[in-house]
Parts: sequence; structure tokens; C-alpha cells
Amino acid sequence: MTTPAEFEAADRLQRRVWGIDTGSTPVPGEVLNAVSHSGGYVAGALADGHLVGISASLVALHADTREVFLWGHMLAAEHRDAGIGHALMLGLRTWCLERRITSARWTFDPLVSRNAYFYLVKLGVDVLAYVPDFYGPLDDGVNLADESDRLLVTWPMDSCHDRERTGYAGNTAYDPGEWRPLLSIDERGRPKVHPRGGDNRMACAVPLDIEAVRRQDPVLARSWRRALRECLSEVLDGGGRIVGFTRCGQYLLTARGTLA
Ligand SMILES: CC(C)(COP(=O)(O)OP(=O)(O)OC[C@H]1O[C@@H](n2cnc3c(N)ncnc32)[C@H](O)[C@@H]1OP(=O)(O)O)[C@@H](O)C(=O)NCCC(=O)NCCS
Repeated sequence: MTTPAEFEAADRLQRRVWGIDTGSTPVPGEVLNAVSHSGGYVAGALADGHLVGISASLVALHADTREVFLWGHMLAAEHRDAGIGHALMLGLRTWCLERRITSARWTFDPLVSRNAYFYLVKLGVDVLAYVPDFYGPLDDGVNLADESDRLLVTWPMDSCHDRERTGYAGNTAYDPGEWRPLLSIDERGRPKVHPRGGDNRMACAVPLDIEAVRRQDPVLARSWRRALRECLSEVLDGGGRIVGFTRCGQYLLTARGTLA
């Protein structure tokens, strides 16, 4: 996307995806224009001539480390679970590899089960860090002023990816007996944190639709934020890893030194 009309259409799409009536969108048209004209990647997905998805990323030369990588800033699909996001990411990968850019980084909200599955399993990203309140509270139609904790991830685009790279591609690979619960959902939908024993394999559950929980019960949503932050930070800070995510909403984690 390179023209003002295309950026305006991208702005309107963001309003539909994030439920924003007035005020600015996450990445306004003039910022998309700057990203595109500074050599970044701004692309749209069309269905029957209508814009149904957008992807915007900056090409970064890190001033301190001198690494060149893609910083993914925005991905949005108007219709969920129709493969639009995946198509946009495959397009992004091709674009990068043609320019010899081999790694991408971005962040996502670890409470959003769909995004965790999409990035960890469908794309096969590796988790670099858990970052509490990355942007400060975001008051849009999806985040509803919740704290903006994020997982920072990297996508190695020049190796084998997607489901083959990640050992735990879904329900079939998840045997609850093998993964001790560290965080589970109680019968009223509340988070239940379990004491961490000496287990090497642990599972952390998240609600299947945190956006609905935020709308219906913001206090409950905040308790999920705190509980997941506590559990994931503890494992990652101790040298453990996130090795998978199941379609039924469970992070799979291994302790430091455990082979997945
Ligand atoms: C994140 C987003 C871009 C993904 O795009 P998409 O077109 O919906 O993604 P896809 O259809 O390619 O894949 C979604 C996958 O999630 C799975 N999924 C859906 N709901 C899920 C849930 N609650 N838990 C786990 N996985 C889920 C789907 O089954 C699908 O996997 P499959 O193809 O193996 O069946 C899109 O959902 C979106 O725009 N969300 C709102 C904005 C946003 O959060 N952007 C990302 C910011 S980091």
C-alpha cells in the first residue's frame, strides 16, 4: 500500500477491527504513509475488491546491536479465523526473504488465546521475553483500558517454520497428565494459580475469549492479567521456556534445562 486512498482505507479497517468510532486509530494513515515511504512493509489483503486485512512493519537497523530485522507493528483481519492473518504473514515472509531480511520481531497480548495459537503454533515464533504493561493502558474497543502486558517474540523466517517447527501443534499433542497445571480456570471462570513444584513440564490456561471477559467483567479480566503475568514471568525469569500452546487455550512451558 502506497497511496493516500489506500492508507485511508486501512484507517477505516482499523476502526472496524478495534471498534473505534472517533479519535485516532492504532496506526493512523499518516504513520502508515511514513512506514511505507521509509522502506517498511505495508500490505493489504483484498477479498472481492474489498480491504479485509492489513499488515504494517518497520525495517529496523538497531542502533546499538547493528542487527537488521523487521519490527511488526500491526496485523489485523476483519474476518477472524478465515486465514487472512496467515496469508498476510506469508506475504510478509516472502517480501523479507527477497530482501535478505531473515528475522522479524513483534509483541502480542498473551491473554488473547487466538493470537497465542496463531503466532506460537501456526507461525512458529520463539518467545524472547514477557514485558509487563508494554504500552501502558490501551483504551480501545478490544483492550478496554486493561494493562498492556505483551510477549516479545521473534520469527526466524529462513528456517523451517509453522507447525513442523513447533512440537505441540494442538489438542492431539497435549496430554494433560504430562503437564502439571500452574494456572487453571475454576468452575466460575476465575484464574486459579497452583503452587509450583519441581515439575519440568507445566501448563497455564487462559480464557478462550478474554475480549468477552473484559466486556462482561473487567475485574475478572484484570485478575487474569495479574495471574498470567505472575505465572509466565516466574517460569521465563527462571530460565524456562514457552514451548507450545494448545487450541484449547493452554500455554505449555518447560523448566530451565528441560528438553521439550
Ligand atoms: C490476530 C489476527 C490477525 C489473526 O488473523 P486470522 O485471519 O484470524 O488468523 P488465521 O485465520 O490465519 O488463524 C487463526 C487461528 O487461530 C485459531 N483460533 C481461533 N480462536 C482460537 C482460540 N480462542 N484459541 C486458540 N486458537 C484459536 C483458529 O482455529 C486458527 O487456526 P487454524 O487455522 O489452525 O484452525 C486476527 O484474529 C485479528 O485481526 N485480531 C484482532 C486484532 C489483533 O489482535 N491483531 C494482532 C495484534 S498482535
